[in-house]
Amino acid sequence: MNDNKVSSSTAIIGLQWGDEGKGKIVDFLSENIDLIVRFQGGDNAGHTIEIGEKVFKLSLLPSGILRGKKCLIGSGVVVNLSSLISEIATVKSGGIKIDNTNLFLSDSATIIINAYKQIDASFEAGLAEQKIGTTKKGIGIAYADRVSRRGIRVCDLFNETSLKHKIEAICSFYNPMLTQKLNEDEIFNELTVAREQIKQYIVSAYTFASNFKGSVMFEGAQGFGLDVCFGTYPFVTSSSTVAGAIFTGSGFGVQAIDKNIGILKAYSTRVGDGVFPTEGNGEFEIKLQEIGNEFGTVTKRKRRCGALDLVYAKQSVFLNGTNQLALTKIDVLDGFDKIPLCIGYNIDGKNYDYMPSCINEANKIKPIYQIFEGWAHQGKTAGCTKFDALPQNATNYIKFIENFIGCKISIISTGKERNETILL
Ligand code: GDP
Ligand code: IMO
Ligand code: MG
Repeated sequence: MNDNKVSSSTAIIGLQWGDEGKGKIVDFLSENIDLIVRFQGGDNAGHTIEIGEKVFKLSLLPSGILRGKKCLIGSGVVVNLSSLISEIATVKSGGIKIDNTNLFLSDSATIIINAYKQIDASFEAGLAEQKIGTTKKGIGIAYADRVSRRGIRVCDLFNETSLKHKIEAICSFYNPMLTQKLNEDEIFNELTVAREQIKQYIVSAYTFASNFKGSVMFEGAQGFGLDVCFGTYPFVTSSSTVAGAIFTGSGFGVQAIDKNIGILKAYSTRVGDGVFPTEGNGEFEIKLQEIGNEFGTVTKRKRRCGALDLVYAKQSVFLNGTNQLALTKIDVLDGFDKIPLCIGYNIDGKNYDYMPSCINEANKIKPIYQIFEGWAHQGKTAGCTKFDALPQNATNYIKFIENFIGCKISIISTGKERNETILL
């Protein structure tokens, strides 16, 4: 570490198209961590964590908040203040402490004004058949405004004259494109009212990070396939979701990540549109959707389902620099006699061991499968807490994944609950 103040660092990164179970793993591992940091994305994320009878759905708050840990919403996050305020209230009503001793919001994070949601929806409607299937949370609009240097940042809330100029610039940019025009006064009012409720959490990410001592966990949102650069572009989100984004979006400078943990669901899912080579609509996929309860946390849409894609997972591990894997939702596969795994791609008769960048090529992928014997007749993985207690065929499945990708599996999640986890 640069300054020896960060005693250990862990990254939790989704390796597929989001919803791999990042929240559960952050919650499980954060017991002994001092600070949990979100560094990209916004309230398009939905991290569901079940602790006993309680179900928490977190979108902006780092999952470590549930353990009362210090949590930073870093500079790379796009923050809808109304969403943040209501999420804080909901989580507090679940008995969790949140105040200015454990929640910190970077003053250089970009703000999502509520009007961005309307613009997001209207741009999607304009795309018709080509729509991305966004969460309509205004994520893409906020990131576009940020790089176009039009965006409003948290620190801008405190100078009302310049805030008004910024709002004016945003309205004059978007209004010619919209039937329902943006109203400057409404936006100003929205932001100044929200400011009063969140001002206690605002910090300079630099000052905060440079004075911090202890262990840090960086909590990714979305997943590799949704990365704006490396994902299945243009069917992606608008932020970098790979581990490299930690240092452009947190407030901490580039440093070694001791545990760079890639979260890999034991099968594949995707919400929204775009390339998904192993997607299917047969009995296998319908059962995955039902047993895995695969519905979007944020939009409630049914998640598309398919077999685990090891080709894409391997690419994801490389581009993230992943040094260990957490395999989640293995219990969902408990009832199957046969389990397919994608081990190669074929496009126009030619074999590929990676996803081509061009969407037109990727759309033609025919997956090559290896079929595994399931373990329905041998027992269950559900709720297992020890590797030795897993059915033999489940062990074979896990070992095959590890060998194919070339990365150790150090955590196996066998259920939603904290304790339904095998730590290797
Ligand atoms: P995230 O966005 O990556 O945090 O994932 P989501 O929370 O959107 O989706 C994962 C869902 O699976 C949540 O409802 C979790 O409670 C649940 N979950 C996480 N791990 C497991 C597991 O090992 N087994 C089962 N059955 N459910 C899990
Ligand atoms: P977590 O953190 C799954 C998807 C949307 C859409 C695309 C672009 O819970 O894993 P956006 O609103 O970001 O402009 O939508 O990205 N998407 C997610 N899919 N999990 C998420 O987050 C997602 N966040 C965005 O469905 O396809
Ligand atoms: Mg999710």
